[in-house]
Amino acid sequence: MIEIGHDCTCEGNPLVPQVCKVIEITTETSDVSSFKVQTLDGGLPFEFVPGQLGMFGIAPHGECMFCVSMGGPDWLEFTVKRVGTVTKRIHQLHVGQQVIVRGPYGNHWPTEQCKGRDMLFIAGGIGLPPVRTFLLHCLANRADYGRIDLVYSASTKHDLVFKEQLFELWPNEPNTHVHISVYKDCDGNTCTISFTAPFLEDLGLDVSNTTAVLCGGPSLYRTCSKALANMGIADENILTTLEMRMKCGIGKCGRCNVGEKYICLDGPVFTQAEVNAMLKD
Ligand SMILES: Cc1cc2nc3c(=O)[nH]c(=O)nc-3n(C[C@H](O)[C@H](O)[C@H](O)COP(=O)(O)OP(=O)(O)OC[C@H]3O[C@@H](n4cnc5c(N)ncnc54)[C@H](O)[C@@H]3O)c2cc1C
Ligand code: FES
Repeated sequence: MIEIGHDCTCEGNPLVPQVCKVIEITTETSDVSSFKVQTLDGGLPFEFVPGQLGMFGIAPHGECMFCVSMGGPDWLEFTVKRVGTVTKRIHQLHVGQQVIVRGPYGNHWPTEQCKGRDMLFIAGGIGLPPVRTFLLHCLANRADYGRIDLVYSASTKHDLVFKEQLFELWPNEPNTHVHISVYKDCDGNTCTISFTAPFLEDLGLDVSNTTAVLCGGPSLYRTCSKALANMGIADENILTTLEMRMKCGIGKCGRCNVGEKYICLDGPVFTQAEVNAMLKD
């Protein structure tokens, strides 16, 4: 059974914004781009562990919470979908421009507790960036984990993010299986048209040794968590990362609570068993 540590691993003061600069921008889709940022003197904005969050924005327009989607020795990457006021501004950034970054916030994926287990990553659309750091951790420490499956879906093939990793890099990793589907507009070579949940049962998983990591919209979350339960994967072995509207990131503004839990402090990573208990409260 997996128990997620709900400890904050951050050192220093994650409330203090740092002025950083954009060093690289990757266009993922028509409304999603990834932004690599580093401090003005070329350093890492903050240390993070897979699953943690950061505030990223532009003064004076505002800031938003994002999962760190990747990290290097001296940079962090956020993958941002353009949905409203601040994310529209972020999408207008150019390399070299200054931004504000603060963090890390929240708990993290239980990478240690999952050692020795088969890993099933399930993501929809913009749900892939939050699970990518966990997947990358498993691939970087390949001997520590069993079979790895990624089941990723988006509305159309144009809405798939991280295409190079999806189609070229990850399928060539040992004992790693990448399954991609879209709901419409498929070119027949790169993906199939399918809903995700029915597909899971055909993967032939050893359910007693599988941990599922799930991140997507409400419909994907609902149908897949039900399918995983039907397959016999225990609620303690289904992990998810929750999103609520956030402001402070430190449990003070009261924007992100579900019952007595604050997503910014107690999450964003929870087991399905914890989510069920929160919804009952
Ligand atoms: C824990 C966490 C992790 C996140 N990780 C990512 C990520 O990796 N990549 C990414 O692109 N986005 C992520 N988000 C969502 C991101 O924070 C919002 O899209 C962003 O704050 C929107 O700001 P805006 O000013 O552009 O939108 P606004 O102008 O404030 O709103 C535009 C529309 O988006 C809706 N909206 C705004 N925020 C949210 C939210 N948090 N959840 C659902 N709907 C929202 C509003 O209701 C409105 O309909 C995450 C959010 C949280 C809380
Ligand atoms: S974001 Fe303020 S309490 Fe969670």
